[in-house]
Amino acid sequence: MTDSPAPVVAVIVVAAGSGTRLGHSQPKAFVPLGGRPMLQRALESVFGMRDPAQIIVVAPEKMLGAAERIATAAAGTAIEYVDVVAGGQSRQDSVRAGLGVLRPEVTSVLVHDAARALAPSALCDAVVDAVRASGGGVVPGLAVIDSIKRVDRLGRVLGSVDRQELSAVQTPQGFPRAMLLAAFAAATEEMTDDAALVASAGFPVVVIPGHPLAFKITTAWDLRRAELLLSSRGENAGSPRIGTGLDVHAFDDTSELWLAGLHWPGERGLSGHSDGDAVVHAICDALLSAAGLGDIGGVFGTSEPRFAGAHAGVFLHEVLRLIGNAGFRVGNVSVQVIGNRPKLAPRRAEAEAFLGGILNAPVNVSATTTDALGFTGRGEGISALATVLLVPALAQGPVLSWEA
Ligand code: CTP
Ligand code: MG
Repeated sequence: MTDSPAPVVAVIVVAAGSGTRLGHSQPKAFVPLGGRPMLQRALESVFGMRDPAQIIVVAPEKMLGAAERIATAAAGTAIEYVDVVAGGQSRQDSVRAGLGVLRPEVTSVLVHDAARALAPSALCDAVVDAVRASGGGVVPGLAVIDSIKRVDRLGRVLGSVDRQELSAVQTPQGFPRAMLLAAFAAATEEMTDDAALVASAGFPVVVIPGHPLAFKITTAWDLRRAELLLSSRGENAGSPRIGTGLDVHAFDDTSELWLAGLHWPGERGLSGHSDGDAVVHAICDALLSAAGLGDIGGVFGTSEPRFAGAHAGVFLHEVLRLIGNAGFRVGNVSVQVIGNRPKLAPRRAEAEAFLGGILNAPVNVSATTTDALGFTGRGEGISALATVLLVPALAQGPVLSWEA
């Protein structure tokens, strides 16, 4: 066990269906999608969530062993957060089985179909945020694009339905724990999704924007479409990407100096909302830029209290998570510090080892002065210029067999 606090979010991933409409010899969640079981793909997204969560996998009784192996592969070091339980006859029974193993600390519960194997991690994060903000049920949904007709059994049109009033809802659906448990306790009929149950128990449910990739794989056509989307994603991410980032901070005698992730006792500090570490900020900007994710201001905000005085690790770990979600890992980093002080050479190897250890890639830190010219030459501040190379990290996890 780690010392980190127990997660307050749980995600129940229901994977206990048989997949009759897909018509495969294996239960649907165990059918390979781009070489890995659908359940593994779904779990990889869930493990990409921003906050740690208890992950509850609900699998067919005869597939529990296979589900455990898949969950282990997807969880990596986060295996202590995972529970695997047997599902029931209906989807509702399966969700109920998952609810039975919620850990005591959990206050918000997401329920997600393994069949929505490509739903992005960011959608899960958005549902968690919306549950917290609204205090009620939350479902992602997409606007209905086609015109909708009401028809009788013979296909005769009875009338039109105003599609402005319609939303095609997806999972993960999120709820405060007590609300979901109360709705399940009160359930008298089978419903196809959890929001319907919660709404029929009289609780509020809101729709937030869904995601096209959160579509449900139901038929062989859907599976083929998912395969093609994966392969086109692979092509897009197939080339390395470079990015540059520049950061400047003024010296500030009231603070201590943190640079390249290291503390520099006795040196003048740098101003800034966080610790003013221009080297780390330039690297983060370069990484985000290479991945097409904007810049550090956009990702962290300049006034977020969470980042007041924050040091290197906080920024680098979060940026690493984001670029990992975007399908990249760091190839190498080259960063140049421009300024008169501190003298970098004596601690250069230390800085490179520290940054490279976090980024899991070679990092080169160099330094130069500007021949007494400009603000750096006058000793008013420091600038840092980073160049990074990202390489595609299309997860090529082990291809698992699906026999129990
Ligand atoms: N599910 C479940 N337990 C059930 C039925 C469904 O956990 N008894 C899960 C499925 O594994 C799937 C999700 O609920 O991830 C959505 O269900 P659906 O797409 O209908 O999957 P299946 O029921 O497996 O497919 P089909 O209806 O074609 O048999
Ligand atoms: Mg079904």
